[in-house]
Amino acid sequence: MVGLAACGESEVDNKGTASNNGDPNNGVATNNGNPNNGSNNGSNNGTGATVVARTSALNYYSDIKPIIDAKCLGCHISGGIAPFTLNTYEEVYSIRALIASNVKAGTMPPFLPGPDCRDYQFDPTLTPTQKDTIEEWANADAKEGDSAKAGQPLNAEPYTPPILDTVIEMKESYTPLLSPDDYRCFVIDWPHDGEKFITGFGVTPGSPTIVHHMIAFLAGPDKAQQALDLDAAEAGPGYTCFGDSGLGDGAWLGSWAPGGVDSSFPEGTGSKILPGSKIILQIHYNTLEATPIPDLSQVKFRTADSVEKEGFFLPWANPGWIGSQTMKIQAGNADAKHKFSFDPTLISQGISKLTIYSGGMHMHLLGKSSKTWIQRANGDQECLIDIPKWDFNWQAGVAFSEPAILNPGDELSLECHWDNSMENQPVIDGKRATPKDVVWGEGTRDEMCLGVFFVTAE
Ligand code: HEC
Repeated sequence: MVGLAACGESEVDNKGTASNNGDPNNGVATNNGNPNNGSNNGSNNGTGATVVARTSALNYYSDIKPIIDAKCLGCHISGGIAPFTLNTYEEVYSIRALIASNVKAGTMPPFLPGPDCRDYQFDPTLTPTQKDTIEEWANADAKEGDSAKAGQPLNAEPYTPPILDTVIEMKESYTPLLSPDDYRCFVIDWPHDGEKFITGFGVTPGSPTIVHHMIAFLAGPDKAQQALDLDAAEAGPGYTCFGDSGLGDGAWLGSWAPGGVDSSFPEGTGSKILPGSKIILQIHYNTLEATPIPDLSQVKFRTADSVEKEGFFLPWANPGWIGSQTMKIQAGNADAKHKFSFDPTLISQGISKLTIYSGGMHMHLLGKSSKTWIQRANGDQECLIDIPKWDFNWQAGVAFSEPAILNPGDELSLECHWDNSMENQPVIDGKRATPKDVVWGEGTRDEMCLGVFFVTAE
């Protein structure tokens, strides 16, 4: 890793950075002119022969900066989750080859769903033209251009975030104790006295350098005491939890990963929250490249007293995997696979049709790939999410550009693959684990294969 910027001091809000596109004076501290950026400028190949870089008409200010500003600064900003900033010509120029290779490989910006499944809202993936532009510029003379002739910001339609009226904060700040990964659940009171519907979701990470992802779960009034008991059983704010809230019911309300923005639920829909509920905020802290500092994060909701259509989060997995432990992943198997396909309208009486608006997949550390789709009664398949290369660190839900309709007779299907070979074992407390047989569970070394969908039913 090159150009590690010393982040952590500034409280820059790293959401919604799409709005400061093209503004070079956004007041962010940069490490301009750092001579130790560890890169060479490509003019000497080390054999003594001089390589003359190709020239290109492309330049940083007109062609590259608009792409970087719109697609990278959500994280590569001072105080953001990425370990270095991409704010200036010097910063981008110094690692241009690494940028080009990551962009070409599709590893940056991080987005797990593959391209051939369906269209999503807020898909950060670069278009082929944008990838080619970066590659051509980086492989040629990578000119700076003129800041007075900056290219147009990419976002033609500026994003208007929803107004989130209910902001709830962790009761007290927490400094991660476990390193480098600390998964902690915080129990927060739901503040409303009457029945409400949530229609929008967002988070504000307190300390963006260490907050790697957050998932909000619901503990309804019947589960509230159980959540408080888990909290009380451990010293300090919150309790250790991995992958789920510890209540084991997959009741997601929303998830966030760096770069994510505040979002609305589909028009006219909302999910019911009863008075006396608790919100369980699971935060994954990562301190591999950052100092543990106190965090006081917030989760935010837009609420309404009524909605046209009540929506709910449908967790989807084979009940046998959970109840009878049939999801066996053998020690040493480099491609263990489990699949589940079932018609959800058979479970709830009186449902004739499900509309699926968004979804997310959830596995743990051995996950390799996963896919979820609708298996039509006539044999056709409609892809919902296809994750060719699972990465536990970048799981976040995706909103479909067009909702999917599931009719009775269709099956909601999912398939997960795991690599339980020696080479793919997680490093726990600094030591690589040895493979063991794995089943469904909440622990770091257990696994899951869960889909979570936001749906309305008719
Ligand atoms: C959602 C947050 C996020 C966004 C958006 C993002 N990055 Fe990153 N990037 C990271 C993080 C975190 C790391 C360091 C850890 C890693 O490599 O995954 C990183 C690492 C990198 C690296 C070093 C990778 C290596 O091989 O060492 C490059 C180069 C990079 N990013 C370029 C970009 C570019 C260019 C964009 C925009 C087109 C971008 N990133 C968008 C979070 C992000």
